[in-house]
Amino acid sequence: VMKELKGTKGGHLIISVVTTANYFVTQLLAEFSRQHEDINITLDVSNRNTLLNQLENHEPDMVIMGEPPKGHGLQSERLMENPLVVIAAATHPLASLKRALCLSEIVAERFIVREKGSGTRSTIERHLHKYQASYKNTLEMRSNETIKHAVGAGLGLGVVSMHTIQPELDSGCLVILEVENFPIRRHWYVVMRKGKRLSPIAREFKSFVMAEAPRFVRSNYTALS
Ligand code: PGA
Repeated sequence: VMKELKGTKGGHLIISVVTTANYFVTQLLAEFSRQHEDINITLDVSNRNTLLNQLENHEPDMVIMGEPPKGHGLQSERLMENPLVVIAAATHPLASLKRALCLSEIVAERFIVREKGSGTRSTIERHLHKYQASYKNTLEMRSNETIKHAVGAGLGLGVVSMHTIQPELDSGCLVILEVENFPIRRHWYVVMRKGKRLSPIAREFKSFVMAEAPRFVRSNYTALS
């Protein structure tokens, strides 16, 4: 695919991605800009609500986010799976139980959660609501990184995108808990305003993302598929 790219000259690419996509998008951009040394790139990493506002205001060429809401004049293409898992410190008492946990057991614990406006947060809340469950005790933080540190320090459990925790799984400080009705299956989409006329460089970038993004996602989660 890369050989087929025609090497459009120059241009300015403006993209935004949700925080969970941050982990692969910089590598993707590095590869893309090696092929296009003469372009300028603006990347913003924000939560779901911020991206929806940016789309509304015609700011980015395109964004990478969870499934967009209907009826906002947006068009989207499904990109990759982005499952949400329950994480705990390796030393957490629930981590040593050698069985699957019920939802009622985990919601009794304290949870470190994302801010309002986060797609991760709204997805989890919808999911818990579906099973008549809700958090009892929460601690709110604005970033996935902070949540991972807090969970690692034993402050509570978290629910995060699998794609944000590879280094901590490798080093063994965090574990994924096996919980009924988890992981929550969701996807990333490439989203733009309906009828948007993309610049040549933005068009190339979109094809590049659709074809190459899976290659930049490190994942040992074969158990899920
Ligand atoms: P967010 O991103 O939680 O930062 O909004 C994740 C998502 O919506 O997929």
